Amino acid sequence: MKNSVITRITGTGSCLPEQIVTNEDLSKVVDTSDEWISSRTGIRERHLAKDETTASMAAEAGMRAMQDAGIGAEEVDLLIVGTITGDYVTPSTSCEVQEILGAVNAVAFDINAACAGFMFALHTAHAYLQSGIYKTALVLGAETLSKIMDWKDRSTCVLFGDGAGAAVVRAFEKGKAEDKAAGGILAFEQGSDGRKGKVLSCLGRRNNNPLIENPFIPSYVSMNGQEVYKFAVNTVPASIQKVLELAGLETGDIKYFVLHQANIRILQAVAKRLKADMEKFPVSLDHCGNISAASVPILLDEMNRKGMLEKGDKIVMSGFGGGLTWASAVLEW
Ligand code: ACO
Repeated sequence: MKNSVITRITGTGSCLPEQIVTNEDLSKVVDTSDEWISSRTGIRERHLAKDETTASMAAEAGMRAMQDAGIGAEEVDLLIVGTITGDYVTPSTSCEVQEILGAVNAVAFDINAACAGFMFALHTAHAYLQSGIYKTALVLGAETLSKIMDWKDRSTCVLFGDGAGAAVVRAFEKGKAEDKAAGGILAFEQGSDGRKGKVLSCLGRRNNNPLIENPFIPSYVSMNGQEVYKFAVNTVPASIQKVLELAGLETGDIKYFVLHQANIRILQAVAKRLKADMEKFPVSLDHCGNISAASVPILLDEMNRKGMLEKGDKIVMSGFGGGLTWASAVLEW
């Protein structure tokens, strides 16, 4: 790795489907209530795709991020989408996005790391940029989770939403342009635990051998909520502590913790374990629900557009979910 390279997020974007579905609306679909959903999760509404697709939302979010960064599509040489709900098995969502945006010079591929997907994609881009292979990456998280919901299962379908978020990440030579060549991504930490994969799963791919009877496996999300909760409140604070240590920083140095938006109770428990004020944990799950890989970049874009991020601010970003997978980063804005 060349340590003469700084990688920075220089632009953000996001896109949510037009249709807003409130908890009240969902109570007409399954036996639930606004009171149950909002008190246990903090979610009040989510956006669900009608005409939008994973690729169309990703492309829109990507275009907004490029506008924010002031770059053209032909400057992107690496395009990575974190997703578990691509529109097709192949082509990949990233190749679809490449075509829509006209990012003709990009190498494009998807990453499947569920709710940690954007963070895994960001780490991958960071590594490519640090090594000098590429200079400008468009990193996305995009999901149409409504496709893989069992709309008869109230324990899962009320939790999720659809949308996409994006970030432009660029490499700068240290010392060449003073304002750009400091800070950036300071440290990364990530992990996986396949032994616990079944606590949050979406099965459904089966063998299709014409000479035998193949069992039907439904393609819906299923979850052991309590096990996922335990995983999140133990693993995420440990991952954040580790990445802070790698960066030589402490919780008190961090302005915001930009976490995957699964559940307000998880955010509260992580804040408590880190002994950090809940005000440092911005929230978008109230109006977005859980959008898996898209949660972190959508929240980051909302913060950026509200002017919450100032040059020099140190922030932690953390994604965690199916696989199981998790990843945390420390950045200087
Ligand atoms: N509306 C009304 N009642 C419901 C609903 C609903 N939408 N869903 C479940 N219930 C009922 C159950 O049937 C059960 O009823 P019973 O006692 O009569 O059997 C009761 O509520 C309690 O069900 P539990 O599953 O035990 O509910 P719990 O209190 O554990 O809350 C929740 C569920 C909110 C999912 C919780 O487990 C949790 O916060 N888990 C964290 C996992 C998470 O947030 N996952 C999101 C995706 S994963 C990720 O992104 C990392």
